[in-house]
Amino acid sequence: MNPVFEKLQNCYESVRKKTDFVPKVAIVLGSGLGKFADEIDVVEKVSYTEIEGFPTSTVPGHEGRFVFGYIDKVPVVCMQGRVHYYEGYPITDVVLPIRLMAKLGAEYLFLTNASGGINRDFKAGDFMMLTDHVSVFAPNPLIGPNIDEIGTRFPDMSSVYNPILQDIIMSVADDFDISIQKGVYAQLTGPSFESPAEIRMLSKLGVDAVGMSTVVEAIAANHMGMKICAISCVCNLAAGICETPLTHDEVQEAAAKAAPLFKQILRESIIRIGAL
Ligand code: HPA
Repeated sequence: MNPVFEKLQNCYESVRKKTDFVPKVAIVLGSGLGKFADEIDVVEKVSYTEIEGFPTSTVPGHEGRFVFGYIDKVPVVCMQGRVHYYEGYPITDVVLPIRLMAKLGAEYLFLTNASGGINRDFKAGDFMMLTDHVSVFAPNPLIGPNIDEIGTRFPDMSSVYNPILQDIIMSVADDFDISIQKGVYAQLTGPSFESPAEIRMLSKLGVDAVGMSTVVEAIAANHMGMKICAISCVCNLAAGICETPLTHDEVQEAAAKAAPLFKQILRESIIRIGAL
């Protein structure tokens, strides 16, 4: 058997020994946004360290567990803390949690992250709903023998961020009077922040915000046929646009400040997605 698929099966069996919960929506909480898990009526928590062979997050602000439960009446699984490529894991391990949540039954994936703003109309603290992405600066998680059991060799990428889910997010923002930008997100590997020259390059490529996650997860989820949406918290203006040096503490602080509004958008969007 393909070793990547075998690992996925083993992790699946390991989680199924703890819970038979079937989520409809999978949620990934980015840097500083982990508190959203408090919104869940918890049924079960499974720490990443309890799952044999599972990658564990080493980043401050990322807790490292799955939370299973309900948002209102919607069954969800939430990743409180994600794994990043820059932590040194193979890219197939970075997307393993996404594949696992799909295998556990999640049809929808709600990705969140913290990013640096490149679009000159953005300011620190803005939210940006992803309409598309640039993946070419990160390794593709589908490289290697294709796992035919979960998806096709050459998946279409023309509509990764589901238009119906995008409409839901925009209507929630409208109903709650929360302003939200739309744009293209690029994933770079990190862990160093970008140089000003790199930001100028990304700007010329039509990128609105940059970060170190999300895109590889969206590729793996799209491969499995999940319906995906994503919101970024633009925590700072990117290097060369912002005049002061960037720090992870600043990113976390900005995300924490945005958390209450973020919670509102996320919670209400999930309730409406649950009704689809
Ligand atoms: N660059 C990359 N990742 C980020 C940034 C940034 O400026 N801010 C938050 N995550």
